[in-house]
Amino acid sequence: MRILFLGPPGSGKGTQCKKLADKLKIVHLSSGDLLRAVVAAGTPAGLAAKQFMDAGNLVPDDVLIAMFGEKLSSPESAPGFILDGFPRNLKQAESLDALLAELKTPLDVVFNLQIADDLLSERITGRRSCPKCGAVYHVNFHPPKQDNICDACGGTLTQRSDDKAELVKARLDTYRKQTAPLIEYYDGQRKLQTIAANGEPDDIFEKILAELKVLENSHSK
Ligand code: AP5
Ligand code: MG
Repeated sequence: MRILFLGPPGSGKGTQCKKLADKLKIVHLSSGDLLRAVVAAGTPAGLAAKQFMDAGNLVPDDVLIAMFGEKLSSPESAPGFILDGFPRNLKQAESLDALLAELKTPLDVVFNLQIADDLLSERITGRRSCPKCGAVYHVNFHPPKQDNICDACGGTLTQRSDDKAELVKARLDTYRKQTAPLIEYYDGQRKLQTIAANGEPDDIFEKILAELKVLENSHSK
């Protein structure tokens, strides 16, 4: 399966994509995680990207298009993939379509995680992540067993530098102006499935699996 997730910051893209990648045994390609790895490497490209990210703006398109061009052309993506955070504007979406047409691997489905804005700020500011293994927690909704320590690997949890309350509005504005138009773009391609993203993560996951089942059945007819 070739799957894309859309949704505002904090809607649960990373949470759902990780579960789905485990279940389907395909690669989860998160633009934010890939960019944060470049930032952590401390290269000039990483430092440049960090300035955009810490202001709630998009990193320049050419950086992301090159990054995903490489990932999607590599053998790890051949069995299928889950895209999280790319594309994030129309230029990136058109570029992705052109690349996938060339590779003859079009997207099967686009899930749009729909959620009211007032739930997002608490999700974003309470998020904590493990820099060692990438596990994601929430101080209220999904706390680790021991304060600030990763259940999976024992790493010390950190907060993302863009997960500050004062940045939430800028990130949401960027989402609304640049990324939300992709909902219509993929609806026009008849690939869009809207998923209500409030409620328990496991219930949301079940809704996603149910939609995938419907899709598989319609393909096998
Ligand atoms: P990115 O890392 O993609 O951030 P984002 O889109 O803002 O989304 P988030 O990762 O904040 O949220 P999420 O939807 O993954 O939620 P999560 O599952 O973690 O991008 C960061 C930056 O990189 C961008 O601002 C931009 O600068 C740059 N960038 C990235 N892609 C780019 C591109 N294509 N072009 C240009 N620039 C780009 O959940 C959030 C929290 O809520 C967690 O703590 C989780 O435990 C909790 N949670 C999840 N689900 C639930 C639930 N159902 N109930 C309660 N809590 C929940
Ligand atoms: Mg994420």
